[in-house]
Amino acid sequence: MANIGVIGTGYVGLTTAVCFAELGHKVIGFDIDVSKIEVLSSGKSTIYEEGMSELIVKNLANNNLTFKGNIEAITNCEFIFLCVPTPQDADGSADLSYVIKASKDLSPLLKKDAVLITKSTVPVNAWKDVVKALDRSDVAVVSNPEFLREGSAIVDFFNPDRIVVGCTSSQKAKQVSDLYKQPDIQTIITDNSSAELIKYASNSFLAIKLSYVNEIAALCESVGANAKDVLFGMGQDSRIGSRFLEPGPGWGGSCFPKDVRALRVTAEDNAINMSLLSAALDSNEKTHRRIVDKVEKELGNSLIGKTICIWGLAFKANTDDYRESPSIAVIERLIGRGASVVAFDPVITNVDNKKIKIAKSIEESCKSADAILVLTEWEQFKSVNPDSVKDLVKNKVVIDSRNILDKKQWTKSGFNFIGNGWQ
Ligand code: UDX
Repeated sequence: MANIGVIGTGYVGLTTAVCFAELGHKVIGFDIDVSKIEVLSSGKSTIYEEGMSELIVKNLANNNLTFKGNIEAITNCEFIFLCVPTPQDADGSADLSYVIKASKDLSPLLKKDAVLITKSTVPVNAWKDVVKALDRSDVAVVSNPEFLREGSAIVDFFNPDRIVVGCTSSQKAKQVSDLYKQPDIQTIITDNSSAELIKYASNSFLAIKLSYVNEIAALCESVGANAKDVLFGMGQDSRIGSRFLEPGPGWGGSCFPKDVRALRVTAEDNAINMSLLSAALDSNEKTHRRIVDKVEKELGNSLIGKTICIWGLAFKANTDDYRESPSIAVIERLIGRGASVVAFDPVITNVDNKKIKIAKSIEESCKSADAILVLTEWEQFKSVNPDSVKDLVKNKVVIDSRNILDKKQWTKSGFNFIGNGWQ
């Protein structure tokens, strides 16, 4: 069992701390936000994530996990994971200031021969800045990017597709990969720069894939093909793979948009024109616009004075995160074209944009709406009986950007049903 310190208890840090504790390690989670430390120490989760509270309670009770607001608490740890944010800077690059500050703060505190691991998503070669800021020749700096999806972060931690560990010392890299206790999982031991780039290259590839999927859906609509069949057919080719092929209102979240922009800056800084990254970002905006165009078309080519009922604010289901959510992007465009919006989300009850009215229930969101627009694929929406809402809406129009509703059922209830990429 190892003594592990985790710096930063945000999404990645909390999952890392809790899951390593669950594996039997002694883990200390540190955060500068003492109010967070109080909540976590009382056994409550600070993020909406399936199974998180239960694992926190269990591992606090068996003393595998503690949360501290003083960084000195990690002095006895052999392995320290940096999980601080790397937000987007004004030019789209990743802001490394938290990573550098944490490395400097840790420098006098780390025990001899400790291992400092960057799990935060950092641009290629950021590890060199960490080495410099740390200024400790006895401490190895290891790059171990995370690939956790919000909403299934715990499952992903214990069942990763791969573990990536980069270091100048393969022995230190092996020590870090051993912490995961997953001998059957593919482990890629490489150099730091390659490990850092694997993360950006993967997320950006997935974003490009989704932009392509959304463009294929648009084309299917125009030519009268069925995107569900086309994408299923594509996915049967093992070189393409059947996952990440669902069209939607666009891709978003705390990672994809930020990572694609940051990779583009890295490429530009190195005189490499990665035009696909810009194309994917532009295409994503076009997808937002296409969804708005569809609503407008169904409502007599004008949104002025219309009320749109929105189902879903989160950037995807099973999370309360709406950072760079395509729902918000679509809603802002609807409002910009003169519509009012009443939104319902199973977990988000408050958003920054006060022009977005939030309903407390599905029924309330439907009242006097001119159209229902599904933007997040929450399970709850799939089970709505259209008969239960048909008398509430003004116009029986439902636009399902996630293709989750049953067209037959909605049509039977008198709705004009519009899917994404098929008639
Ligand atoms: C992502 C990466 O998947 C993860 O490996 C990384 O470490 C963090 O960033 P996450 O941001 O949680 O995870 O979201 P993800 O599940 O990847 O979805 C990203 C966006 O793509 C969402 O807006 C989602 O709705 C959209 N999406 C995903 C689709 O529109 N269609 C799909 O088929 C899959």
